[in-house]
Amino acid sequence: MLITFADRYEMIATLGNGPLDTMVELGVYKGEFADFCSQKITPNRHYLIDFWDYDRYEFVLKDAPQNLERQAIFESYFDNEPRETLSRAQLQVEATFSNRSNTKIIKADIAAAAVEFPDNFFDVIYLDGNHTYEFVLRDLYTWYPKLKSGGLFVCNDYFESSFAAKQNIGVIPAFQTFSQRFEVHPIMLSMTEWSDFYFSNQPHSPLISRLIEGLINTGQNLLEIPSDFLGSYHHSAVKITGGQILLPVFGKGK
Ligand SMILES: C[S@@+](CC[C@H](N)C(=O)[O-])C[C@H]1O[C@@H](n2cnc3c(N)ncnc32)[C@H](O)[C@@H]1O
Repeated sequence: MLITFADRYEMIATLGNGPLDTMVELGVYKGEFADFCSQKITPNRHYLIDFWDYDRYEFVLKDAPQNLERQAIFESYFDNEPRETLSRAQLQVEATFSNRSNTKIIKADIAAAAVEFPDNFFDVIYLDGNHTYEFVLRDLYTWYPKLKSGGLFVCNDYFESSFAAKQNIGVIPAFQTFSQRFEVHPIMLSMTEWSDFYFSNQPHSPLISRLIEGLINTGQNLLEIPSDFLGSYHHSAVKITGGQILLPVFGKGK
């Protein structure tokens, strides 16, 4: 598995170095990242799925302290008026993509929308919805079969930090649970805040090569590490300092 220091924009831009048929973003919000993907990759068919409805945000154990804390963080993420902010976000997405005939906007729950697509359909699936454990696991179970052979499944916010611990209380553990039950091949993880983690149902494919070669060609450092690292990932565990890559220390000690 590879570590990159590129951010998600640099990573995704590499996929534009060739044609791409189908891509879906699960959790779109204002569509800013979707717009970037649309312009850099221009998939033949680009699907954007979000319910843009704060009243449908669900949490298992809604009143448990970890979820009360999380809901407060969410309200501030949505400018302390989540209903209005999400409604405006939907309008913004509709306006941005109104003239792009390759784009289809689907206002629905992420898991419910999956039934609209056959298995083995998407080249790229970008997951960025409800980040609690149960929902990430649900979305992985629901959407992984929709990935083409050799396609790329991307989990956003695959990282831990003192800030992220409040917002993301499920992405890493959900993937760990999922990967013990399904054949998954970790491909690449970005060593940035709000990391993106790419995995696939195949270890090698033209699309995986395009991602790796694209980053090498733009001068990015890539570091091969054991996949075991994924369970204890922290975005600052590997650093570049003074031109040298500093590796993480496992086990006891500093
Ligand atoms: C972090 S934002 C997405 C940001 C966007 N991907 C970007 O990078 O610009 C999360 C979005 O997921 C949506 N969402 C959360 N849970 C969902 C669900 N179960 N079904 C549909 N949308 C959901 C929210 O409405 C919100 O717009």
